[in-house]
Amino acid sequence: MAILIKNGTLVTATETFQADILVENGKISQVALGMTHPNAEIVDATAKMIFPGGVDPHTHFDLPMFGTVSSDDHYTGLKAAAFGGTTTVMDFVPQEAGGFDYSVDLWQQKAQKAAIDYSFHMNLTHLDASVAADLPHLRDLGITTLKVFTAYNGRLRMDDGSIFHALRLAGELGMLTMVHCENGDVIEELIPEALAAGHTSPEWHALTRPAWGAIESTLRMAAMSQQANAPVYIVHMNVGGEVDMLKYAREHQIKVMGETCPPYLFFSIEDLRRADGAKWVCSPPMRTAEDNARLWQGLKEETLQTIGTDHCPFFFDGTHPIIYESREIAIPGKELGKDNFTLIPNGLPGVQDRLPILWSYGVRTGKLTPNQFIAYTSTNPARIFGLYPRKGALLPGSDADLVIWDPQKKVKHGVAHSHQRTDYNLYEGWELVGYPEKVYLRGMLIVDGDTWLGKAGNGQFLKRSTGEVL
Ligand code: URP
Ligand code: ZN
Ligand code: ZN
Repeated sequence: MAILIKNGTLVTATETFQADILVENGKISQVALGMTHPNAEIVDATAKMIFPGGVDPHTHFDLPMFGTVSSDDHYTGLKAAAFGGTTTVMDFVPQEAGGFDYSVDLWQQKAQKAAIDYSFHMNLTHLDASVAADLPHLRDLGITTLKVFTAYNGRLRMDDGSIFHALRLAGELGMLTMVHCENGDVIEELIPEALAAGHTSPEWHALTRPAWGAIESTLRMAAMSQQANAPVYIVHMNVGGEVDMLKYAREHQIKVMGETCPPYLFFSIEDLRRADGAKWVCSPPMRTAEDNARLWQGLKEETLQTIGTDHCPFFFDGTHPIIYESREIAIPGKELGKDNFTLIPNGLPGVQDRLPILWSYGVRTGKLTPNQFIAYTSTNPARIFGLYPRKGALLPGSDADLVIWDPQKKVKHGVAHSHQRTDYNLYEGWELVGYPEKVYLRGMLIVDGDTWLGKAGNGQFLKRSTGEVL
């Protein structure tokens, strides 16, 4: 069945132009002006924009943490992503003692209900000779990216020597290493001190995870990248000084790239000081208004490469059910840490919010051009993570993952408007102008206005190849 989308304005990472799009067999088959077709379904996109589906490089669905689990699973979270114009997500697989096959199988079982296309990154939290020997197999499974941590001592962190070794192995295999940059040792000293002094409120989550730990860790990882001759991608950059380090390293031809996430552009430690501050607890934490401004500047000047979400939602009050798809559901959440910030599950909702919030408060405010918006949220993640031009492009041969975007649509955003399975929204009451009208996944209409037409299991696992260093 062919679909001909007529009269839209196409927006890509580099161009904005008028054209029709012909979709056949789930792929874009032609992009041209004034097309006709004898039996295609015609969709009129007059006064609308057409984007390649969003590619979110950083999500955590159904992730066990602190005795609970992130509250969106691979159906609800991927459905929410689709409502916000995202058609591909990349989720992180915890490394289990049973090996990569075992770890990936566990996550594939969870992802059987995926509602949009997905792929995996592997958290590398332990490296020995047998893990090293298994890395080529992981790459051959289509998981070409590792995430390592310089924090979460005793849990996820590897020492610098192991990280350096991992970087070298990954580089030789054409794999990309992603790094969570904080200083775990400093954090481990500050947390017990704060608790002993009776500091238990959410702002202490930020005060015990200093910005300078992220800054020096970012430079340290860029330096490791140079010494290992292997590319590095710094996830969830949140401090202005990290952007300065990234800029410095890139000016010295180091193969280092950076991702930020919308909350770090809009919120600060002041939000953690609110009565409901636990809603903003994630790691790394919210910083300052100056950091927000430097991150925006880093996007404008293109020091950064991507905007992911780090979507990892929890209920604010998991003792009270919400209604999701006509059923009551409550999942323990932020209330677990009401007397102790170290027990608040770390993470924020945002997979649906990303494109609409960035459009209204990034593009419409002149901080991003429409083409940068597409580059950061779709094309660059597809290129860096080895999915381009299948994803992130409006080219003949690309998957027909298309967003028909209504730039005039007004929405009062918030939890009532969201399909993210949690009881709050960070952007509650924000006025939006611009929202997806229709979303297609490989030519299937899965979102039509407020109507969900997708279904669990529609998503395909994307085996990825070596990506580009941007
Ligand atoms: O608080 C967050 N971001 N939780 C998810 C884990 C991580 O480090 O990305
Ligand atoms: Zn992280
Ligand atoms: Zn994360």
